Amino acid sequence: EIINGTGKFVFPGLIDVHTHLREPGQEDKEDILSGSRAAVRGGFTTILAMANTQPPIDNRALVEFVCRQGERAGYAHVLPIGTVTKGMQGSELVEMADMKAGGAAAFSDDGKNIQNAEVMRLALEYAKLTGFPIISHCEDKNLAGDGLMRRGVSSARMGLRGIPASAESVIVARDLLLAEETGGKLHLAHISSAESVELIRRAKARGIDVTAEVNPHHLIFCDEEIKITDTVLKVNPPLGSQADREALIEGLRDGTIDMIATDHAPHTQAEKARPFAEAPFGIAGLETALSAVWQYLVKPGKLSLDRVIEAWSVSPADRFGLAGGTLKPGTPADIVLFDPDFSEVIDPAKLASKARNTPFLGKTMQGFPVMVWVEGRLVQRDRTVL
Ligand code: NCD
Ligand code: ZN
Ligand code: ZN
Repeated sequence: EIINGTGKFVFPGLIDVHTHLREPGQEDKEDILSGSRAAVRGGFTTILAMANTQPPIDNRALVEFVCRQGERAGYAHVLPIGTVTKGMQGSELVEMADMKAGGAAAFSDDGKNIQNAEVMRLALEYAKLTGFPIISHCEDKNLAGDGLMRRGVSSARMGLRGIPASAESVIVARDLLLAEETGGKLHLAHISSAESVELIRRAKARGIDVTAEVNPHHLIFCDEEIKITDTVLKVNPPLGSQADREALIEGLRDGTIDMIATDHAPHTQAEKARPFAEAPFGIAGLETALSAVWQYLVKPGKLSLDRVIEAWSVSPADRFGLAGGTLKPGTPADIVLFDPDFSEVIDPAKLASKARNTPFLGKTMQGFPVMVWVEGRLVQRDRTVL
């Protein structure tokens, strides 16, 4: 078959290093099959599955379970992230070497930051030996308290309890110091504030082995857009100010921030229909993230497409030691054909994900992957998962 690519872009399959797939335990929100179908619909051929499932991925058998379910699904490559601590709590570290041998790609207590600095320090020391990155969730639970959105002018105006920006940046500072001391690889998840960007910039200048990611929603939205009647923008970390958003875009442009990642956090419609204070944090992003970045950042000239591909495929592959990103001649490839002119209404009936908690629901978006190959196999064509 000869494919007419006129006016379209061909690039390596995207690698999303931050995806919540909810299996095992919360399959009503998402499972590995629905999540990996959503991935290829969105242009992702590899996804790293976060560890905060029920039970959390804290041993080799569970790592192998996630790998097996991913292979059985047969869409995107699904690579499990293990927890750092047993049960994602306390101070007992998991068996990292064993879990790594079973297929774990990294380790993180996402959703529950490691509050104990000594545990983080030990984890980084161990990471130095295994060579695998520790992903910090970057949240001080005491400072975050029971806040619902970023603390600032908007939270005050809306009368919602706020989370100060320092809830993130004090942990960023702490973990950078611990990474410098131990030499362990550190990856900072979902950076959302200007202060964090500046800390990372300085750390990189000092030669600390750190990478950082930013989520599309923190590059596109800000706290002023939140409505108390609409829980879809309730996310962790909370949306920051306009100044934060500009600092994040600049950080991504100048290489301070290495990667874009969705933090795809599927929730049920019933949960998101609760009052703002009770609805869970999270935005489902796999099927709209690339299109949103194209529409809101690349088209207006804020970010180049080359930088997007680097941040969403090449850098993740380098940092997490994955195939893809660099294509060797003769290897079956993970490839995306992207049509910048293809427009689509985000229709709940068409989403492959079980989740509907996207701010783009019902909106018309432009720029979509129209063909996706995983290991040379066509898995998505004309927006339909095959
Ligand atoms: C995450 C989830 O739903 O698992 N939610 C989110 O808003 N990112 C967990 C978390 O980071 O709090
Ligand atoms: Zn998180
Ligand atoms: Zn997350």
